[in-house]
Amino acid sequence: MSNPSLLILPGDGIGAEVMVEVRRIIDWFGAKRDLAFDVSEDLVGGAAYDKHGVPLHDDTMAKAQEVDAVLLGAVGGPKYDNLDFSVKPERGLLRLRKEMDLFANLRPAQCFDALADFSSLKTDIVAGLDIMIVRELTSGVYFGEPRGIHMEDNLRVGVNTQRYTEAEIERGARAAFELAMKRDKRLCSMEKANVMESGILWRDVVTEVHADYPEVELSHMYADNGAMQLVRAPKQFDVIYTDNLFGDILSDCAAMLTGSLGMLPSASLGAPMANGRPKAMYEPVHGSAPDITGQGKANPIACVLSFAMALRYSFDKGDEATRLEQAVEKVLADGVRTGDLLGDEDTTPVSTSGMGDAILAALDASL
Ligand code: IPM
Ligand code: MG
Repeated sequence: MSNPSLLILPGDGIGAEVMVEVRRIIDWFGAKRDLAFDVSEDLVGGAAYDKHGVPLHDDTMAKAQEVDAVLLGAVGGPKYDNLDFSVKPERGLLRLRKEMDLFANLRPAQCFDALADFSSLKTDIVAGLDIMIVRELTSGVYFGEPRGIHMEDNLRVGVNTQRYTEAEIERGARAAFELAMKRDKRLCSMEKANVMESGILWRDVVTEVHADYPEVELSHMYADNGAMQLVRAPKQFDVIYTDNLFGDILSDCAAMLTGSLGMLPSASLGAPMANGRPKAMYEPVHGSAPDITGQGKANPIACVLSFAMALRYSFDKGDEATRLEQAVEKVLADGVRTGDLLGDEDTTPVSTSGMGDAILAALDASL
């Protein structure tokens, strides 16, 4: 049988640097765990624009549809700020999500014990935190029509449309309920049913799907209250299900509970392919961080943990995913820190590759 295939799209900024470390870890699993992947690499975002004049070449899109999983770094950077909207780096990422139909975006926010002091929130509020945000990723205001900027009475008008079909809400809700069943069986759905019709529909559909998951305790919350509750008492949540835009905002907020945006992985999952694996793309929640690009300062952990999610959700290797997650946990417990994880009392940060070295050593020690 041939090896499972992985398409790596490092993208822009620190995406390329963190992906170097992830590739070393992928190689480790091939050499030490008999888990070899057929890895190919291609361009996305500004890097693709520089070469092809578009943020995602059609050939790359076709490759992404064929492989078992895509691993993406980050896209964007100041160099591309003034490009026409249609060729901005972010359009490459959004095209991948849309055309692969990756409707369920899983964004776990876990606080590692070693970093509990480092959160901007009090230690006891975040210690032991383990929540999962399920963000609908292929619809809503990110993709709704009509959209654009046009003239009305000599004034420019910007338009975007929040639009959800019940089928779109339902399939994401099922993914969220399924996850809740494997966790603490609590699901909180967030919308703005007090001001938006799409929110009323959201609440109705999630309530209907609940009938198939009676063991799960379902609650509903307005998304603004949800943002407040996330920083007030985040441990009240187990799984959160929310739309594309609220999920974007709430997941950045949840990320900071864990100490650094440099820690958070994500999985974007679609329907099962012919081989039974879900269409899937894995990417860190953080962006391309142009301010630290090329300085060896980036924290590769979010991207490493994204590969761990790939092991779990695409390749059915939950044990190996746990091995990798525990290696990261050990490294943090040992006090190894990139610059983003340093408090006032700490002194020397490790470089991006220093963090990679430490994780590889912890993996070796796990054998
Ligand atoms: C994210 C990012 C993207 C989004 C950008 C880069 C298009 O913020 O994945 O959270 O808004 O979805
Ligand atoms: Mg975001």
